[in-house]
Amino acid sequence: MHILLTGGTGLIGRALCRHWQAGGHRLSVWSRSPQQVATLCGPQVRGIGELHELDGEPLDAVVNLAGAPIADRPWTRARRELLWDSRVRLTERLIHWLARREQRPSLLLSGSAVGWYGNGGDRELTEDCPPAAEDFASRLCGAWEDAARQAEALGMRVALLRTGLVLARDGGLLSRLLPLFRLGLGGRQGSGRQWMPWIHLDDQVALIDHLLQRPQASGPYNACAPEPVRNAEFVRALGRCLHRPAFLAVPAVALRLGLGELSGLLLGGQRALPARLLADGFDFRFSDPEAALADLLSARPAPANS
Ligand SMILES: NC(=O)c1ccc[n+]([C@@H]2O[C@H](COP(=O)([O-])OP(=O)(O)OC[C@H]3O[C@@H](n4cnc5c(N)ncnc54)[C@H](OP(=O)(O)O)[C@@H]3O)[C@@H](O)[C@H]2O)c1
Repeated sequence: MHILLTGGTGLIGRALCRHWQAGGHRLSVWSRSPQQVATLCGPQVRGIGELHELDGEPLDAVVNLAGAPIADRPWTRARRELLWDSRVRLTERLIHWLARREQRPSLLLSGSAVGWYGNGGDRELTEDCPPAAEDFASRLCGAWEDAARQAEALGMRVALLRTGLVLARDGGLLSRLLPLFRLGLGGRQGSGRQWMPWIHLDDQVALIDHLLQRPQASGPYNACAPEPVRNAEFVRALGRCLHRPAFLAVPAVALRLGLGELSGLLLGGQRALPARLLADGFDFRFSDPEAALADLLSARPAPANS
């Protein structure tokens, strides 16, 4: 298959490139730094700076993961604009280009997040649930999904990845938490009662591949492990894996003062369940967060992109 990725140089994208290169697929990555793509994603992966570079080349699928990091800094007006532009408007550009193509790929797999549901409290959230609350992140995910769904009118199958917190060896949430936890300064955020839908990177890659291969898979999929945990439980598991105490707590008020509305991502959560993937027979390798953390923190070296 010839697969085009946006966000292919990111945490999930690089892992997908490794997996699909090994499977013999042909990969193109639309990137702001196309010259870096082969180094980041693998020597056989082609970087393109403009979509028209693929005009006239048959394409089987598009995986759309690009987006500026959402939890890195407070959501000022300029930051919100960038978060929106790098997801919603980028997806709209992608759709306009697809609409102009003579040959269209049959599938668009497009990013979203469990944040689509807003803060869900203790309610179990499956894909048939409406949003539980509205905030900037839920509006962003909603607009991102709506933009991607426009590909349905082009005759394409569209599957949406409502992704939880991706646990990986290098990058993502763990790389932000580990320095503090290793110093024994780790702990829960606020009350620690908020739910944390999480997923091991290997399962994220496997489920995206599963959705690529299943001709009937379309619509939203919660991309998170079958057993979400509360924040306090997650930090205890991380502390145990690192043999470090994790008793501290960052007060909710400090997070609200320091981060503004972004604090809602840390203090709220979703008890999201991957109902559609489970119904489809997808087999999660990691459903216990402690086993996932132990695997990621073990001495096994990170795979190289070669
Ligand atoms: N990782 C998670 O825990 C998680 C959870 C839920 C949802 N998601 C979503 O899933 C997607 C992939 O996640 P990830 O962790 O792999 O992301 P990532 O590592 O942050 O990479 C995202 C990619 O997006 C592109 N990008 C960044 N800023 C951009 C901008 N201003 N304009 C256009 N493109 C930009 C970059 O590609 P180039 O530099 O090559 O252009 C980057 O490699 C993201 O959109 C994210 O919101 C991730």
